[in-house]
Amino acid sequence: MTLNADQQKRAVAARAVQLVAPGMIVGLGTGSTAAHFVRLLGERVRGGLDVTGIPTSEATATLARDNGIALASLDGSRPLDLTVDGADELGPGLTMIKGGGGALLREKIIAQSSRRVIVIADAGKQVDVLGAFPLAVEIVPFGAGSTMAHIGAALAGLGITASPVLRTLDGGATFITDEGHHMVDCACGAIADPPAVAGVLAAIAGVVEHGLFIGIATGAIVGHGDGSIVELGHI
Ligand code: A5P
Repeated sequence: MTLNADQQKRAVAARAVQLVAPGMIVGLGTGSTAAHFVRLLGERVRGGLDVTGIPTSEATATLARDNGIALASLDGSRPLDLTVDGADELGPGLTMIKGGGGALLREKIIAQSSRRVIVIADAGKQVDVLGAFPLAVEIVPFGAGSTMAHIGAALAGLGITASPVLRTLDGGATFITDEGHHMVDCACGAIADPPAVAGVLAAIAGVVEHGLFIGIATGAIVGHGDGSIVELGHI
């Protein structure tokens, strides 16, 4: 058996759906892997499962509604029981790069409000060192050029040569996040010290949030081409 990347994504999503129990409040991730999870969760809901979803993006909210999943907003009254989300890269210690889909801010807010955060990924996402995938940084529109220069300088201070690039849509228009911000992508290459990068980025005025997820995931489910599934951390 050989599974392509999308089949691996569906396989890990199916495993993650098994973790959902009746009555749970579940954070619903964003991206193609999380979309498999939402669709499969919808199948269980149509079969009678009672759950409430909290979506990490408008796109996921639409998909969840289309699949019959009841949604709620994040009001802080109760922690989420479980969040299931994808990743752009999954590194050592369940560190991640996220934000390729533009939803990192809501993803991180929802993840930090969850008792369990399970990452689902195809094998191609697993890396020894984070950074081959461009690191997304969400910034406020005001003074974007100045903020981008500060981001480049901060990275350079850590020995990382990366010119921050403002994310645009295919037609050239500036990409706007669900929260009305801009997104900047930084081709860092190997990130030797992710906490240091996270620290310098968080210290820049104008940076709303960055795509380094450190100490957030509690477990990961990784699908491989041979059909095997490897579980990491606490599932
Ligand atoms: C969304 O902003 C990202 O964090 C996604 O979780 C990430 O891009 C993974 O997407 P795929 O599952 O489509 O690879």
